[in-house]
Amino acid sequence: MKRPEPIDEEVVLQNNIYIESDTDTKGIITYVNDYFAEISRYTKEELIGQPHSIVRHPDMPKVLFKILWDRIQNGHNFVAAVKNLAKDGRYYWVFTDFDILKDEEGHIIGYKASRKKISKHVTDTLDPIYKHLVAIEKEEGIEASEAYLDTFLSSHGEDVTVDTLLQEIHRFY
Ligand SMILES: Cc1cc2nc3c(=O)[nH]c(=O)nc-3n(C[C@H](O)[C@H](O)[C@H](O)COP(=O)(O)O)c2cc1C
Repeated sequence: MKRPEPIDEEVVLQNNIYIESDTDTKGIITYVNDYFAEISRYTKEELIGQPHSIVRHPDMPKVLFKILWDRIQNGHNFVAAVKNLAKDGRYYWVFTDFDILKDEEGHIIGYKASRKKISKHVTDTLDPIYKHLVAIEKEEGIEASEAYLDTFLSSHGEDVTVDTLLQEIHRFY
């Protein structure tokens, strides 16, 4: 499917309605709820069976997804602010909770993501940081952006990690 051309226009999300999806262990979408389809502007049929990167926005740093996959493949949950791309080119920022799906024997059989509206204060703070990470990745690669992110977080306090980033965002002023 052709990638939508991003436009600088936001999709307005409702409070308290979750945008949900499940994937298999490779990140192929196996389930989406109605609100996912409504916001992303894809039909459920267009989404199911596609890699989850179908809604990937070019403003998202690669390093965030690297950390995500390191975590979930090792059975750890992860939360992150994600900027996604709708089919019509608009964007929507979501607070995303990534979770692990296991069978009765405890084997990972897939992953789950639950997303809700995120406050503008948080996205305004993160936007320039993410843009900087993307610029580093373009010029020097993902290791350099990972190193920058580590230094950036530790410069805001010893306990500020990528896991506490969203709770600690108020320190970034
Ligand atoms: C359960 C689950 C949900 C995901 N949701 C998103 C999402 O909403 N947006 C997104 O860009 N990537 C999402 N990803 C990450 C994608 O699988 C992928 O790593 C990312 O889009 C980067 O794609 P790329 O490596 O092809 O550039 C999700 C992964 C999982 C396992």
